[in-house]
Amino acid sequence: MLKTIEWTGEAVRVLDQTRLPGQIVYLELRDERQVWDAIPRLVVRGAPLIGVSAAYGVVLGVRAGRGVDAVCDYLATSRPTAVNLFWALDRMRRVAKAGGDADRLLAEAHAIRAEDEAMCLAIGQNGVTLFANSGDRPVRLLTHCNAGALATAGIGTALAPIYAGLQQGLKFEVFADETRPLHQGSRLTALELREAGVPVTVLCDNMAATVLAQRKVDAVIVGADRIAANGDTANKIGTMPLAIVSHHFGIPFYVAAPTSTIDPSLPDGSHIPIEQRDPAEITGTPPRATAPDGVKVFNPAFDVTPAALITAIITERAVHRPPYRFKKL
Ligand code: MRU
Repeated sequence: MLKTIEWTGEAVRVLDQTRLPGQIVYLELRDERQVWDAIPRLVVRGAPLIGVSAAYGVVLGVRAGRGVDAVCDYLATSRPTAVNLFWALDRMRRVAKAGGDADRLLAEAHAIRAEDEAMCLAIGQNGVTLFANSGDRPVRLLTHCNAGALATAGIGTALAPIYAGLQQGLKFEVFADETRPLHQGSRLTALELREAGVPVTVLCDNMAATVLAQRKVDAVIVGADRIAANGDTANKIGTMPLAIVSHHFGIPFYVAAPTSTIDPSLPDGSHIPIEQRDPAEITGTPPRATAPDGVKVFNPAFDVTPAALITAIITERAVHRPPYRFKKL
């Protein structure tokens, strides 16, 4: 599997996900500004990986002589929806408040990264129990966006049960939604599943309802950017319609995420801030324009799936079933 992030001693080295699937390019981010810039550009992306990247960004800022609070406040403005960003920054702030120096902050960033790896493995172990009765038949799943190894420091969240299942001899077949407008599904999920030897079929987002109606899959499994106390879940735009269609056809709809993605301070999903992105992601730029000049564009990066449509939420601790009542840890 491609390594998404590593600490070099002076910089944080990240896989540039904007270049995938065609090119494997690593960038060395040398200060907190470069880390900030990499987050909204989606050089690094996926809720857990955003948190890990920001933690190393704090280390870089503090090493350059800036105050922890100022660096954390700055990095907190990079993207609004994935709560892992704020969760990681809070951990860094707490270490500084307890008197931690740059070395101690670096140790905390390493710990955040290592915990993320461990959480992914545990999500995989918990998630695979849902598919354990499939016998010799391949487990057929549909996923949206990329909540795999490329979105984390480990083996991913939504794809982790697949990787855990492969170790146990299970077989899988996956439909990967393309995920307009930035194609995280076709560019990233299809790439990492192909590398892992999992048969993967790419489809446009508007074809997923047909796949579900034709019962070509046993379940839908996705990641999350923020889960409210009642289980309402923000994830990549296009997730909610999948949940609605799954519910209609009686197909299980699973969310897999670490507890660092749960925000129990928000009672429900209506409070989750949703990132709005550049219209050019949808309209393209000449000569490859896909819409006429001057039209208005609606480009939210995430939607919120009502908890009532979620069959189970898989975390590193358990497979949670409704009603969801997540509390402060
Ligand atoms: O805009 P992105 O690519 O950062 O969106 C990513 C997603 O929506 C993922 O599903 C989510 O962050 C979970 S990643 C384990």
